[in-house]
Amino acid sequence: MIYDILIRKRNGLENSREELEELIGGFVKDKVPDYQMAAWLMAVYFRHLSARERADLTEIMLHTGDIIDLSDINGTKIDKHSTGGVGDKVTLIVGPMVASEGVVFAKLSGRGLGHTGGTVDKLESIPGFRTDLSLDHFKEQANRIGIALAGQTGNIVPADKKIYALRDVTTTVDEVSLIASSIMSKKLAITTDGIVLDVKVGTGAFMKNIREAEELSKAMIDIGKRHGRSVSVVISDMNQPLGMTVGNALEVREAIETLSGHGPEDLEQLCICLAAKMLELAGVGSEEHCVNVARKTIETGSGLEKLIELVRAQGGDPKSVTPPTMNLPRAQFVREIFSEAEGYIESIDAEAVGLSSMILGAGRRSKDDKVDPAAGVEITKKIGNKVERGEVIAVLHTNLEDNIEPATRKLLAAYTFSDDMPEVPALIKSVL
Ligand code: URA
Repeated sequence: MIYDILIRKRNGLENSREELEELIGGFVKDKVPDYQMAAWLMAVYFRHLSARERADLTEIMLHTGDIIDLSDINGTKIDKHSTGGVGDKVTLIVGPMVASEGVVFAKLSGRGLGHTGGTVDKLESIPGFRTDLSLDHFKEQANRIGIALAGQTGNIVPADKKIYALRDVTTTVDEVSLIASSIMSKKLAITTDGIVLDVKVGTGAFMKNIREAEELSKAMIDIGKRHGRSVSVVISDMNQPLGMTVGNALEVREAIETLSGHGPEDLEQLCICLAAKMLELAGVGSEEHCVNVARKTIETGSGLEKLIELVRAQGGDPKSVTPPTMNLPRAQFVREIFSEAEGYIESIDAEAVGLSSMILGAGRRSKDDKVDPAAGVEITKKIGNKVERGEVIAVLHTNLEDNIEPATRKLLAAYTFSDDMPEVPALIKSVL
């Protein structure tokens, strides 16, 4: 009985596999009402799940929907996932990097919501680029050129969609086991050979400190192990946006610059680290060797060539991603933002920058909103940089003139300053 399942979790006891099957199966079929599921989620929030319960929950969730079988794609397939950041255009960079070295990158991605962006929106800012590939087309392309990036097809883990909606309104999103099973059920539903996870930590992330980020990482590695899947984790900083741009076409441009060897240092460093981990999981060689191989894909331009090949294959205009012209959408209004304070930048609230970009048209308030590919924020200064009053700290791009004022206010409030040089947060906190 659901009532007994709730009592056990409320009292801090474990739920058996059968109990979890009854609860999740019943909820997906609308036999368990929202109020009982909400009560269980809140009990989990305070009482947590054991490693066994977490693995069972993940497996039960994963089997509520389609399994995307990639076994008929030749070669080693490595997936990559980020727990969600601002300015995170890493997939557009590491995918082509590893694919240019023969590791298959066949990835299904999502759209952005609220302050975070989504890879599908970024790709769709490339004129003509199609993300609505059928599964057969997706696999055929991955076999042919080693890379395919598409929007989520089919019905992957419907249990997660339903549970997440309830977590969102019951303040139970940020619980380690619930996040780990949500992410891993979706990753395990696609049969790749290995998964590299970029777990974000900081003000702009679910995990606010390194202890929580490590706990989440270990939980996801453990779930992977129990399902026979290799998982590596890089924990990276999200106390400020990644790179210098937030917004779809702006981020594509920065991804191209990074693949050309002219990207921001933090973004390049993280991409080399993640691509190297992906190559290592694929058996390319030692950690040191893989770092060198990853770096070479930038130095020789082989990663950029692969991105251009990907764009051509998915109907995009190759000229739009070929430097130096990069024929990408541009906004009608481009406004410099001047600092109202002086001193060293001490922090830049990534979430606020993401929201400012959303106000300019780059993101969605709700699921069905349209995004403007040209809109977004370029930041010109980062933590540790010294600025004078009146100096440009960011540039806004938008087609919505009336939204410049509220976006500016949101953005300026994202910065704090100090008289002394602050400690610049390390980008890569830990590799597991
Ligand atoms: N991302 C997910 O997919 N699920 C969560 O619960 C949190 C982040």
